[in-house]
Amino acid sequence: MSSQPLRLGLAGLGTVGIGVVKILEREAALVAARSGRPVVITAVSARDRAKNRDADLSAFAWETDPVALATRDDVDVFVEVMGGHEGPAKAATEAALAAGKHVVTANKALLAHHGQALAEAAEARGVALRFEAAVAGGIPVIKALTEGLAGNRIKRVMGVMNGTCNYILTRMQAAGLPYQTVFEEARQLGYLEADPNLDVGGIDAGHKLSLLSSIAFGTRVAFDAVELEGIGNVSIDDINLADDMGYHIKLLGVAQMTGRGLEQRMTPCLVPAESPLGQLQGGTNMVVLEGDSVGQIVLRGPGAGMGPTASAVMGDVIDIARGFVRPVFGIPATQLTPAVPARAATPAPYYLRMALLDKPGALAKIATCLGEAGISIDQMRQINREDQEDDDAIVLIVTHKASPADIEHALSQFSQTGVLVDRPVAIRIEEV
Ligand code: NAP
Ligand code: HSE
Repeated sequence: MSSQPLRLGLAGLGTVGIGVVKILEREAALVAARSGRPVVITAVSARDRAKNRDADLSAFAWETDPVALATRDDVDVFVEVMGGHEGPAKAATEAALAAGKHVVTANKALLAHHGQALAEAAEARGVALRFEAAVAGGIPVIKALTEGLAGNRIKRVMGVMNGTCNYILTRMQAAGLPYQTVFEEARQLGYLEADPNLDVGGIDAGHKLSLLSSIAFGTRVAFDAVELEGIGNVSIDDINLADDMGYHIKLLGVAQMTGRGLEQRMTPCLVPAESPLGQLQGGTNMVVLEGDSVGQIVLRGPGAGMGPTASAVMGDVIDIARGFVRPVFGIPATQLTPAVPARAATPAPYYLRMALLDKPGALAKIATCLGEAGISIDQMRQINREDQEDDDAIVLIVTHKASPADIEHALSQFSQTGVLVDRPVAIRIEEV
């Protein structure tokens, strides 16, 4: 074992940062044995020095400015766990790489927006830029893709990558509560990001998917090309009706390379209730990886929280301590190809729910629109609810496989019929 310690500068002393302090406090000997050298924190930074952080930080130098921390002579690895894709996180990460320091970050937003430039900067200096904690928290999915599955051509990456959304959807279903009530519960429980739209708008999960796509398909990170739809419009009615048909609704990310380009979408989908994704409860994450040689791999685990995220950060730190530096996105950043974004076109069955005027011929008009769009109906039924006060007819249709474009066309035709009472709901049924 080398006696030369690996010295960390830790920027951010919140959930993730304090988790790292605690692992090193508790497991210094184990980490040293696995690293082949001691791993120590030399300096830390946060906004408020006076805050009580439930950890002894007295042995560490304090830096008010994260950029100064990142470039200290006694820092070998800059650990960025502050958050935010601009401001100090970006400035300090750039400064660390320019100074030839390794960087470990949990910041998916930073990499989704600036991954290419940061990867080029790291690789030009021959240092590591690692981000295991940024995607699916404690699940070692970056390591699985870049190392364990490196011999595969990846066909598809799928997953539930935002624990807050999965908590909201599964809680709505279990308690029969509407979205807004459970959203407020999640806020009270502290599950939501400071800007809740990062969670419920699908943005956080979209960041994560764009990072996995880059590694899986050898393309530059293309977060702007992810088709995003959040969970704000998922109703308890849809959750219950889907359940009756043997499906659960998930905020599902899917990325695949097609002949037209790279499809990336993060949208609510129906998945079979009995599938591993359908069974996923609460804040847990799941990533499904499909390789040409290996077939399908399913990774499941905690996507957030102090222990799981610090576990992922430490995995990266220990690799660096062992002297392992690999290209940031699996192949050299200069060889990543620009992603050619393709709108999702892979046909799938769709769940359609609509409220129609309850009058003769209304349903026939809808069926005609579907027929004219080349969409075949698999199941159709009218729902009579006991609590229904008006005379509208709630109609549920499950289609055979149809392309997203044909579904969009049919929906636009529905609105010309004059029989719709409300905006129809269309949710893709994903084959998983
Ligand atoms: P957090 O609990 O809010 O902690 C953020 C820390 O950064 C705080 O200590 C804060 O200082 C410090 N900080 C913020 N702005 C700063 C600035 N301008 N200068 C110096 N320090 C600053 O956040 P977190 O949950 O640990 O998340 C950190 C990162 O990990 C984010 O990128 C997040 O997306 C990512 N992540 C988090 C989780 C999770 O479960 N929490 C999971 C995966 C990834 P003060 O304490 O003084 O305010
Ligand atoms: N807000 C994120 C989630 C935290 O709910 O999954 C982890 O990235």
